[in-house]
Amino acid sequence: MKIAVTTTRDADESLNYKAKGVSKDLNISYIKRGNFSIKETILKDGFDYLLVVERDKIVIKGEDSALFWHPNMSELKVKSIRQGNKEAIIEATKLEEGNSILDCTLGLAGDSLVFSAVVGEKGYVVGTEINKYIAYLSKCGLENYNGVNGKNIDNIKVVNESYEDYILKQGDNSFDVVYFDPMFKEPNRKSTSINSFRDFADHKGLTKDILMEALRVCAKRVVIKERQGSNDFEKLGIEKYYGGKKRGSIIYGVIEKNI
Ligand SMILES: C[S@@+](CC[C@H](N)C(=O)[O-])C[C@H]1O[C@@H](n2cnc3c(N)ncnc32)[C@H](O)[C@@H]1O
Repeated sequence: MKIAVTTTRDADESLNYKAKGVSKDLNISYIKRGNFSIKETILKDGFDYLLVVERDKIVIKGEDSALFWHPNMSELKVKSIRQGNKEAIIEATKLEEGNSILDCTLGLAGDSLVFSAVVGEKGYVVGTEINKYIAYLSKCGLENYNGVNGKNIDNIKVVNESYEDYILKQGDNSFDVVYFDPMFKEPNRKSTSINSFRDFADHKGLTKDILMEALRVCAKRVVIKERQGSNDFEKLGIEKYYGGKKRGSIIYGVIEKNI
């Protein structure tokens, strides 16, 4: 993938400096922003994407797409949980204050934000993300985000590593819950932001071997997010799940450690 860092057209010295820092962090080149539009620069120089450092956020721009970190649906879910409503993701994980969870597929950290709110200050979330751009967007996004309570999020650790490598290094029972949200097989092609996310994300599916490792590392349960009607639950031996019954709705499969 051909990608470089640049800034907005009106960048001053401090923004150029910030962009150079991002290019160093990600080990990709920095290009000085001329008077061309992002789309013109992409087409002229044959880039797939440009990572544009703006004053308040980082945006990965494609010819017709823009991908940036945002809390997504997590704010609504956190508010709903606080109002005492049931959310399938929490029914499945059974997370409580003070718990720890390994979110193996961090992505843009929407689910991790829900976990973070439920486990609170005494608990913590570790999120592994294999793609360095997605991990970077999430790390910077979370650092600059004041959650639903207006407080900094300081109980989510972002790890830019594959869950396969990370899990192998963890001891038995080292997290209460281990969670996976693999990429859906049937994408929603209508959304350009989801489509550009799909360009960066890793699409491998889960294997039985990884689930065995996840069971070793969790103290309570392994939870897997999937879609009703198109998932590998049967193949992976998962019988119990929470969530909607309609085809396409989100479901959370559960493997308990001690049945
Ligand atoms: C469906 S997204 C997760 C979305 C996330 N739950 C959220 O709420 O934003 C799946 C993410 O897992 C990442 N991923 C896929 N395979 C991985 C692996 N082996 N190790 C770590 N991350 C992986 C993908 O790059 C992608 O960002």
